Amino acid sequence: MARRQGSAHRFALPLALLLLLSPLAGCLKPPPVTPSSRRALLLAPTLLPLLPSSSPASSLASSPAAPYDKYARTYDALAEDSGATNALNIDEARKLLLSRATGDVLELAGGTGINVPLYPPSVKSLTLVDLSPGMLDVAASKIAASPPPFPARLLPCDVSDMSALFPAAGSFDTVACTFSLCVLSPTGARAALGEARRLLRKGGRLLLLENAWAGGGVGAYQDAVAGAAARFGGKGCVMNRRVGEDLRQAGWDVQEEGEVAGGIFRWFVAS
Ligand SMILES: C[S@@+](CC[C@H](N)C(=O)[O-])C[C@H]1O[C@@H](n2cnc3c(N)ncnc32)[C@H](O)[C@@H]1O
Repeated sequence: MARRQGSAHRFALPLALLLLLSPLAGCLKPPPVTPSSRRALLLAPTLLPLLPSSSPASSLASSPAAPYDKYARTYDALAEDSGATNALNIDEARKLLLSRATGDVLELAGGTGINVPLYPPSVKSLTLVDLSPGMLDVAASKIAASPPPFPARLLPCDVSDMSALFPAAGSFDTVACTFSLCVLSPTGARAALGEARRLLRKGGRLLLLENAWAGGGVGAYQDAVAGAAARFGGKGCVMNRRVGEDLRQAGWDVQEEGEVAGGIFRWFVAS
């Protein structure tokens, strides 16, 4: 991952700036004319974020899953193997991180099951939880059409409290989470990280890939626009979280970490 990031690094900051600047432009001006440029601009706010909803604030207030139910069918076209995700090395980052999953895997807020094909065949089982029935429906169709070589189950659940679903501590060898802590409130994200710790077996690992605060000028820009981008273009995804600090404050021992696309995304292996 490091070598690829190195070669892309030269372009990553200008590209990230361009992309990060796009979401607000999308809110203030008429949308770009071509479908492909529109897709790239709409992807920009927080990486994964999706088409603008008609009333994002009210949707988010009613349920964090509501926007995801609505856009579940179009989510993958934006979040995987698109021009923007390739340019930002996101597909590769997902693949490299998740190739490290072992044993019984719990994926938090796994959405449409975008990561399911990226787990190694040696994984013993996969349990994917998400709050959005619409996202889980898409995941179920994909798994039925192309079953992974390990047992997989999909369960509706709020990741900030999984005690009813998984009362027993230490049930998983790997907890994975990609691009989802950013849609939770800070309290919800802390709670989810606490649940991840409770549910990991001794010696188990957390694999995390998230939108993150990049620092420097890009970080300042992220700080300036994160709130507006989350409300108007990002389905609640807040792009400037200090993910590493949050992890360490939650008591995680971060064994490895790295940046993608100039630091607007970060990956972590922690225990
Ligand atoms: C940006 S998507 C990320 C999906 C997937 N992890 C990926 O990498 O593309 C955020 C996901 O978080 C889910 N979500 C939001 N709040 C949640 C919560 N409290 N508990 C569980 N899932 C939640 C949404 O339904 C959605 O599927």
